[in-house]
This record gives sequence, C-alpha cells and structure tokens, in this order.
Amino acid sequence: MEVAETIQSVRSQVKAAREKGKKIGFVPTMGALHVGHISLIEAAVNQTGFVIVSIFVNPTQFGPGEDLEKYPRPIKADLEICRNTDVNVVFAPTREQMYPQENLTWVTVEKLTEPLCGRFRPGHFRGVTTVCAKLFNIVQPDIAFFGQKDAQQAIVIKRMVADLNMPLQIVVCPTVRETDGLAVSSRNKYLSPQQRKDATIIYKSLLKCQELIETGLTDPNEIVAKVREVLQSVPSVQIEYVSIVDAETLQNIDKIASNILAAIAVRIGSTRLIDNILLDTG
Ligand code: PAJ
Repeated sequence: MEVAETIQSVRSQVKAAREKGKKIGFVPTMGALHVGHISLIEAAVNQTGFVIVSIFVNPTQFGPGEDLEKYPRPIKADLEICRNTDVNVVFAPTREQMYPQENLTWVTVEKLTEPLCGRFRPGHFRGVTTVCAKLFNIVQPDIAFFGQKDAQQAIVIKRMVADLNMPLQIVVCPTVRETDGLAVSSRNKYLSPQQRKDATIIYKSLLKCQELIETGLTDPNEIVAKVREVLQSVPSVQIEYVSIVDAETLQNIDKIASNILAAIAVRIGSTRLIDNILLDTG
C-alpha cells in the first residue's frame, strides 16, 4: 500500500494502474475509520481493481462552532485498517495541498441541500460538494463509494455528478450499525457511556416509524409526532429534526407513498448524531 500526500503522487499512481487496465475505485473519508468505512472499502475492493481511500478532514464543510478542531485524527490506526483491507493507495493530503490559496470556486447543489441537515448546517453541503469535486478531479475514479448513513450527502453528490457530467459512477452502500442498532459513526466516540446508551433511541424511533407505516398510518405529520414522542422519552436527546420526505427529491410529502426517507438529527450533549431509513411501501 502506498501513502500519497501530494496530488502529483496520487495522480501518477492512478495513471500507472489505469495503464494496466485497472478499474479505479475511490472511497472519500475524513478518517477515524470504522466498520462503516470498511464496508465501503470492501465494496470498492469487490467492484474495482485498484482502490484509493482519501483521508482528509475537510475544513470547508465545518461551520463555526462545529467540531473541526476536535475531530479525531488517528492516522496510524487508519493506515493499519487500510493495509488490512487491501487498499492500494491512501491519499492523505495536507490542508495546504487541498486548499493552497483562498478558495474562490465553489460547487453548490441547489434545492436538495436546503431541507434536513442543510437547514441546520449552512454551508456544509457546499463544502462537501466542493471537496468531492476536487477529489474526483484529482483521483479520476471510475466508481466512488458513499454510505447511506449520510443519505442527503449521497443524493447531493449523485446530483452534482449528473448535473456536471462528471465521468464516474456513484455507488451507495447500506448503513452499518452496532449490534444495538446505533449507526456507526466517528462521532460516537464523543459520547459518555450513558449518552451512548441513550443514543440507541435514535434507531428505535426509526423502527417505530417503519412499524407505524406498515400498520397503515399515512399522515406524515402524525407519524412524525409519534416518532418525536419516542425520542423525547429520553431526556438527554434534543431533537434537531424528524422528517419524512420523498427519497429522491427530499421534499415533504402529504401522504405516505412508495420510496420515502425517514431521517433524524439529534443532539446528545454537544454531539450531533444523524440516522435514516429508506422505506419502500410500493
Ligand atoms: P466520513 O464521515 O468520514 O464518511 C465517509 C463515508 O463513510 C461517507 O460516504 C459516509 O456516508 C460513510 N459512512 C459513515 N458511517 C457509515 C456507516 N455507519 N455505514 C455506512 N457508511 C458509513 O462523509 C464524509 O466523511 C465527508 O463528508 C466526505 C464525503 C469524505 C467529504 O469530506
């Protein structure tokens, strides 16, 4: 496995792989790798012949007062995971490599970035789409792998790729969960043991949502109210949003139809956690 710290170095490795006829798979991450990331790496290893993982805590997607400074950066452990999962190249650029001068060019996906997390993290998706556009230009993969855990991010990236005719395919992999259902996240590390227990209510409330829909409830407002009640049964959980939206447009719906996304964001203490499930009632 090679560790590339410069754009030039990652480009020359990709060029060499391409000359050997390899299909290039790419997994963009911010590091602090866990089983969720590993599932994307495994998908990339299975579907392509040369796998690149980027590790870069992208400053432009963090808002003021968010956790940019305290975001975990266990680079040694991350490299070990990549070695053990047959990654070919880790691209771990410095901030100066990625942003050598004031960034004046931004990629903005409209509409899809307005609801859900977009309402609570202004500028976040602009940072994500811009860094992903840069990374796609640097790596030039055939396929890039994203997680369903960040459902809105995956939809936004897919739309950017379609609208800008970027020559790659986006594959979205299922959310990996702990045995008690909590979606695995680098931010789970911030939780105290009690908060970690409390956090299991998030997935439980999503399952409740699924159950309500399966038993025939069709009014999204009524379902959202009941899901909020479940979350509010745990006092440490502060709800940011509970939304039931069309899984493609992310717009509110009047009535439960096929292909919906139930998405939740909460804070437990100062830790922000998100989760979602896709429901296809059709
Ligand atoms: P990061 O939070 O490190 O996540 C990297 C990828 O791992 C994302 O596609 C995310 O959806 C996926 N992922 C995280 N937890 C997961 C889980 N439990 N199951 C399945 N997939 C999971 O998302 C980012 O980084 C950044 O925004 C990035 C795209 C790298 C741009 O900076």
